Amino acid sequence: MLRVRDVSLSYGGEPVLEGASLAVGDGQFVSLVGPSGSGKSSLLRVIIGLQTPIAGIVECSYRRSEIGILFQDDALLPWKTARENVALGLTLNGMDRRDAVAQADHWLGRLGLAGFEDRYPRRLSGGQRKRVALAQVLARKPKLILMDEPFASLDAIVRARVVADVVALVEQQKISVLLVTHDLEEALSLSDAVYLLSQGPRARITQEYNVPIPRPRDPVRSRLHPSFATLYEKLWSDLSREVGGEHAQPARDDAAEAA
Ligand SMILES: Nc1ncnc2c1ncn2[C@@H]1O[C@H](COP(=O)(O)OP(=O)(O)O)[C@@H](O)[C@H]1O
Ligand SMILES: [Mg+2]
Repeated sequence: MLRVRDVSLSYGGEPVLEGASLAVGDGQFVSLVGPSGSGKSSLLRVIIGLQTPIAGIVECSYRRSEIGILFQDDALLPWKTARENVALGLTLNGMDRRDAVAQADHWLGRLGLAGFEDRYPRRLSGGQRKRVALAQVLARKPKLILMDEPFASLDAIVRARVVADVVALVEQQKISVLLVTHDLEEALSLSDAVYLLSQGPRARITQEYNVPIPRPRDPVRSRLHPSFATLYEKLWSDLSREVGGEHAQPARDDAAEAA
């Protein structure tokens, strides 16, 4: 499990986070939402160890090699094929090349990329590149995956498909996930728990929402669950209050009716 306790972070004396706490249990899917610039990515960097907090601690029962990371920009090497990109992470970890290639092909196949193993990243669509990046992470058998707006660059249909595959795979493999997103519907439809980070500076985690939608989840059908509209309305109004009165994104009609 991952536990962040009372983390405060500053950049050169400028406060960003103040006393932020959250927990991700084994096999739990947790999202962190909050206004742009509130410190979501910074909190992930603290968790990975790329930033040192001025106060607080991160407790993590997983080794560094058991943690996968998926960011908005995929980190595929342009001069390597999809297969070589996935296999590389495994050979660097000491797996012999033949096993690494077999594992790469297995995971590319599970992500719907059979037949694309020899393609270079520039000859793959955005959705396909995202799947290769996912295969890279999953092939290393992570216990926890940290995601920072990983689907933001994908268009709606591709995104829905990639997200459905992610949910199915992390449920099957019992992988814990901490997802940073500004998309409230995505957070609620995927997660067991959602944390809200307040507007910075000195952002704190002000709310935790439990999402009682059963698993296995279909992220699209999750939105039809009776608790979804109520939770969406609550999360949206709490977030709007944080951002300060602006209603750039209207509440969903069905959410408004349910409230
Ligand atoms: N490396 C950095 N040095 C200084 N300030 C930073 C750095 N990274 C982020 N910030 C600032 O910290 C705040 C939080 O940023 P970030 O964690 O990226 O927010 P979010 O991911 O929620 O949009 C912002 O005000 C941002 O400008
Ligand atoms: Mg960010």
